[in-house]
Amino acid sequence: MGHRHPADMHLLSLILLIAPLAAAAEKFEALHHLGGNSPWFPGPEIDNLGTADSIPAGCTVTKAIYISRHGSRYPDPGAWKEWQALYTKLNSASFTARGALSFLPTWSPVLQHPSQDLAQLSLTGYTELATLGALLRFRYPDFYTPNTPFSVFANAVQRTTDSARLFARGYGGPNATSLGTVHVVNASHPGALADSLAPSDLCENYSDDSATATAAWDARYLPPITARLQRLIRGDLNLTDAETALMPYLCGFETQITGHRSPWCKVFTDHEITQYEYRQDLRYWYGTGPGSGLAGTMMLPVLAQVSEILENGQGRNLTVAFTHDGQINQLASVAGVFDGHRNLTTDRIMQDRTYRASRIVPMRGTVAWEKMSCTGKDKGEFVRVLLNDAVYPVTGCRGGPGGSCPLEEYKRIVERKVVKAGEFNERCGNEGNSTEPKDGEGFLLKPGGKAWVSTVAP
Ligand SMILES: *[C@@H]1O[C@H](CO)[C@@H](O)[C@H](O)[C@H]1NC(C)=O
Ligand SMILES: *[C@@H]1O[C@H](CO)[C@@H](O)[C@H](O)[C@H]1NC(C)=O
Ligand SMILES: *[C@@H]1O[C@H](CO)[C@@H](O)[C@H](O)[C@H]1NC(C)=O
Ligand SMILES: *[C@@H]1O[C@H](CO)[C@@H](O)[C@H](O)[C@H]1NC(C)=O
Ligand SMILES: *[C@@H]1O[C@H](CO)[C@@H](O)[C@H](O)[C@H]1NC(C)=O
Ligand SMILES: *[C@@H]1O[C@H](CO)[C@@H](O)[C@H](O)[C@H]1NC(C)=O
Ligand SMILES: *[C@@H]1O[C@H](CO)[C@@H](O)[C@H](O)[C@H]1NC(C)=O
Repeated sequence: MGHRHPADMHLLSLILLIAPLAAAAEKFEALHHLGGNSPWFPGPEIDNLGTADSIPAGCTVTKAIYISRHGSRYPDPGAWKEWQALYTKLNSASFTARGALSFLPTWSPVLQHPSQDLAQLSLTGYTELATLGALLRFRYPDFYTPNTPFSVFANAVQRTTDSARLFARGYGGPNATSLGTVHVVNASHPGALADSLAPSDLCENYSDDSATATAAWDARYLPPITARLQRLIRGDLNLTDAETALMPYLCGFETQITGHRSPWCKVFTDHEITQYEYRQDLRYWYGTGPGSGLAGTMMLPVLAQVSEILENGQGRNLTVAFTHDGQINQLASVAGVFDGHRNLTTDRIMQDRTYRASRIVPMRGTVAWEKMSCTGKDKGEFVRVLLNDAVYPVTGCRGGPGGSCPLEEYKRIVERKVVKAGEFNERCGNEGNSTEPKDGEGFLLKPGGKAWVSTVAP
């Protein structure tokens, strides 16, 4: 048996229920199909392999690593400009709208204090992070002795640092006298490569370019939706495809910002939402994912540290770090769970894909590794990879309990990837420096004593 107490399931369900956006599982839920624009939700099970809460019989989780996107946030300045432009256009047009668009004439952007809020965590983000902290205490009750020091890691951007601080508060609990230390690394510092949670910042040849794939798909899926919506409008207002593409984005953001379901969530049909979702898949697959070449290799130095932490019997039981959607996608893409996945098609939805951005990079999207120690017929040490709490099998290495991969084999898979990709500075066309982490020296293993690392209190 795993170490989970029966009562924990009950507590976990309670926590999920108080999250403002909990939704019925069976019904199509638009908020679970918005790619990087969804608030957090647990991923559905893959191949019936279960979730973080189903630990294979005879196994105990002895170590866990969670690397997460920051929590739900307000729009960034670029998106905010688009919301305002849409508002200005609607406000200066003379029209009526019916059906799902009848709210259009009275719509205005939901941000109350843009100068303070842009790109920062929202209240839903706050809930997601504090909840994650409490959830991991429940999930791994033996990992932590109350009021003892612990470390959390973050990329040095306000929303990721805040995510780490809020996580630490949730993990420490309301009466904690020791709330841990948040180690923050400045990814733009020229010396930071070996410690970076966003190595692409130091890669000269880096480019995140999915434009060919997304333009092809946009040209296919958007015009019929725009035409359908246009028929709901009478008067002097013509929607553009770019405005149509903004609507599901507004659904996700407005809902998590206000805590109430946005009227934009009803504008697309379920089928149209799945087309929008696929657009996000193409954007991440070809931008920073398995179909992207160089960009997709950026997080290998971090994966190498993950492998080292899993292998090394000493040290921390729980490692938690916060970074951004591109990095989470890069990490999920090299973790072994999408190896051999076919390139996504750009002329139709690839229905049988396991790669879905919504299940990888929603707000607070998390890639996790658990090391399991098992007895009985499967005696030994195993690794399982989880994307947002759903177990994903490692391609070609799923013979262990619950579809897990033997630890030694996972280590070799990671080593092969690192060797195949080659030296970071070389593939990036960087001049001079070679500062990839040496064994035992990377940020997640040894954060201290570096000019580009600082600490903040939770
Ligand atoms: C790690 O977890 C084990 C139990 O799994 C526990 O005995 C040990 O004290 C933990 N270490 C820390 C630093 O909390
Ligand atoms: C809270 O912490 C203080 C100091 O560590 C302790 O005296 C007190 O009993 C704790 N209260 C609860 C409810 O755990
Ligand atoms: C990060 O490092 C860069 C380059 O050294 C520097 O310009 C920047 O101010 C640093 N940022 C932070 C948040 O310390
Ligand atoms: C090489 O890295 C060092 C820090 O390790 C930094 O000071 C220097 O500017 C870097 N040089 C180049 C050419 O990037
Ligand atoms: C909307 O499109 C119609 C048909 O193309 C055109 O006649 C009309 O002038 C356009 N209205 C605006 C406000 O652009
Ligand atoms: C997938 O697409 C990328 C980008 O077009 C290409 O470089 C790569 O070779 C393709 N991979 C396969 C397996 O076809
Ligand atoms: C890096 O980019 C430069 C300029 O685009 C190019 O000449 C060089 O071949 C690239 N290096 C690698 C390793 O791709």
